[in-house]
Amino acid sequence: MEPKFTSKMAEKDKVERNRKRSEPVEDKRIISNSRLEDDESDRSLRPKTMADYIGQEKIKKNLAVYITAAKNRNEALDHVLLYGPPGLGKTTLAHVIANELGAQIKVTSGPAIEKGADLAAILTNLEDGDILFIDEIHRLNRNIEEVLYPAMEDFTLDLVNGTGAMARSIRIPLKKFTLIGATTRSGNLSSPLRDRFGVILRLEPYSVKDITKIVTRSSGILGIDIADKASEEIAKRSRGTPRVANRLLRRVRDFAEYEGQDEISLQLADKSLEYMDIDSLGLDVTDRTVVETIIDKFDGGPVGLDTLAAATGEESSTIEDVVEPFLIQLGFINRTTRGRVCTERAYRHLGRSFKGSYEGRDLFSAAEEEKKNED
Ligand code: ADE
Repeated sequence: MEPKFTSKMAEKDKVERNRKRSEPVEDKRIISNSRLEDDESDRSLRPKTMADYIGQEKIKKNLAVYITAAKNRNEALDHVLLYGPPGLGKTTLAHVIANELGAQIKVTSGPAIEKGADLAAILTNLEDGDILFIDEIHRLNRNIEEVLYPAMEDFTLDLVNGTGAMARSIRIPLKKFTLIGATTRSGNLSSPLRDRFGVILRLEPYSVKDITKIVTRSSGILGIDIADKASEEIAKRSRGTPRVANRLLRRVRDFAEYEGQDEISLQLADKSLEYMDIDSLGLDVTDRTVVETIIDKFDGGPVGLDTLAAATGEESSTIEDVVEPFLIQLGFINRTTRGRVCTERAYRHLGRSFKGSYEGRDLFSAAEEEKKNED
């Protein structure tokens, strides 16, 4: 007898895959790591060479080796998969790689390629050594993905002409190109596709020190002086993300111009960020509302996602996909089987004394407290 749960699980898996392949939940907040319209002016801030690219040291070291080797052998670089949260510079890095190789780059994205013919047109126009950059590669349609396999592996395009008994398959040789794919989560990629990348690199959130350097560099390009402490303050509130840092910098620069200041001082940066309602860790009103709701209305949790959504007036998907990930990264919220729980850290950040549930306890302070009680 066929076990019932298998087909159900397969269906659930399919639904989940489709959800991840479909349109992501929109986040237009100033601290959003998504690419916003306004960020187009960021292009001038993007580094063009490895030497100008700040942070991601391990990745840079690896790439330097592979790029030098490919150049020395006069071969195309192996296909590269870049993965990591949005806003960490995957697109920027793809351009830097192309620049370092002295190669042309063609940019597209998973959702932009709708038909196999679209991809075939792109592939047949590539020259030896060219880079094809596919952003959000996990959103490629499965049928199109299959066109990529022989293209990546054997540099051939397998096309089928006609249908039924008249169908003939045609092989078209392609030039030796390099595919650079970018994705927010490599787990969302099918394994046959992932396996065809020779180089897989994970971008990590940046340290405050590196973002501080990025802010100072960007200020120079924007033509405004900035105090070191001001760069650092912007960095601290940027969630480890250059895209957010550069966006905050541009807004702070607006404040400086409005106030008639020709340098961004710490005081001005502080005041502007406070005005934008972005706190010391980069949380905005929505983030704080979610945390405060769990604490004030549900005694710190556990509370189910849908109940939390109803209580905050946000969509469940917005909370789950947009708000919660950073709160979890900060260790402010735990997802438990019984629902969302606020941690002691979240209470501390909001200046509250901890009255939450056992799941929210900070194990280190709990151990310290117990020790104190014993003494
Ligand atoms: N702007 C965005 N990302 C950057 C990086 N990694 N280095 C320098 N400037 C940047």
